[in-house]
Amino acid sequence: MRPFILPIPAVVLVVIPALPILSLLLAFILRRRRRKPTITTIRCLHVGRALLTSSPGHLTPLASRALPNQRLVTAFGIDNSFTTASYSRHKAFRSRVEHLLRMSSASWQQTSTLAQTLFRQNTSSLHLVPFVRQYVLTTILHIFFADFVPFQPDAVAELGDLIHSLWLQSKVGAPSVTSQRRLQETLRHLFPGMTENPLDLLLPAYETLWRTVMRCFLEVQFRAGEQAPAWRELLAEYLGQPSSPRFYASLDGVSPAFLVKETLRLYPPTKRIYRATTEKNWVAVDVEGLQCSPEVWGKDAEHFRPERWGEADAGTWIPFGTGTFVCPAKGEFAPRLIGILVAAMLGAVPKDARWTVEHEADDVLRGGRLNNERDGYESLKLFW
Ligand code: HEM
Repeated sequence: MRPFILPIPAVVLVVIPALPILSLLLAFILRRRRRKPTITTIRCLHVGRALLTSSPGHLTPLASRALPNQRLVTAFGIDNSFTTASYSRHKAFRSRVEHLLRMSSASWQQTSTLAQTLFRQNTSSLHLVPFVRQYVLTTILHIFFADFVPFQPDAVAELGDLIHSLWLQSKVGAPSVTSQRRLQETLRHLFPGMTENPLDLLLPAYETLWRTVMRCFLEVQFRAGEQAPAWRELLAEYLGQPSSPRFYASLDGVSPAFLVKETLRLYPPTKRIYRATTEKNWVAVDVEGLQCSPEVWGKDAEHFRPERWGEADAGTWIPFGTGTFVCPAKGEFAPRLIGILVAAMLGAVPKDARWTVEHEADDVLRGGRLNNERDGYESLKLFW
């Protein structure tokens, strides 16, 4: 067979003019390749815990965490515990958060009232994902920002959507400049006198809470909760009296605390926790894999069974991380807030509400556990 040789005029006419574009393309591909780190997934609890307790490699523990989180600095301009390599900044930010998370009984009661008020306009239908985002974000804004200007539901909804889409964009490449500009405008609108970036605080709280609230609601409303009407009653009682003893009080071996705990086991919003050993070598502790493993949790590992917490060992339950930088909201704040937000939803949506989806993947009764992806259930609508 004769080898294929490009005729000389074709080289002159096609290949040579395209050379600058081809070399640019090659440089782009090589740069992307160079930038992408190698990620090793850790599926052993002991190894994972050791990595999250002492710094892997030569980096300091803060630098080892800050490196994989640089995409959040690019997308949101944040400077918080997750992104700083400075110990003084970390200490100051963490103390501020711990102070904000210590809520009085009166504040818990106000939060319960607010959650119920936010449902007043939704009397017969609900586009679930946009609603839950706006609902959770509004609640957090009220709790964290004394100067937050209320009654701007559209701006809050826009903020929630922008945070979510920029987060997704930051995972795959450079975030869109238009979205970033819109985010800054929305923030200026909601926080006219802002002196520091509200996203430092909002980001760790909002992106974890709204997804947990939605999945806990779906389990109790449409799935495992169908066979357990007592769960709704339990949560309703807690909503009426949102105290710590009520949160832990159980009926037939299940408490609001167990419902939240089981949701965070089956659907951890932080699915993997990353650390860098060097700039190009990262490790990812597989929280979701560990928490859904049949070897640890038995044959029903993929089922929502809050009763298991009566005797389960919490050793492999690490939705709030473990080791050096464990989440300050782990103890009471996040679990109790999730309980209130889910309870208010169940109080407003009747037990016999129906649902529709545009995409089959959003079917809440598909086999196995719920979809735990960030963009799941976008087309799900409820009506009653
Ligand atoms: C369902 C709710 C939540 C989950 C599942 C969650 C999860 C986590 C995880 C896995 C970590 C450890 C990250 C690492 O080791 O790199 C963490 C740390 C942290 N979380 Fe949360 N979180 C939640 C709610 C919140 C809330 C409401 C706040 C309030 C602002 C918050 C603030 C923080 C902060 C400041 C840290 C860093 C702690 C440090 O560096 O010492 N989280 N969270």
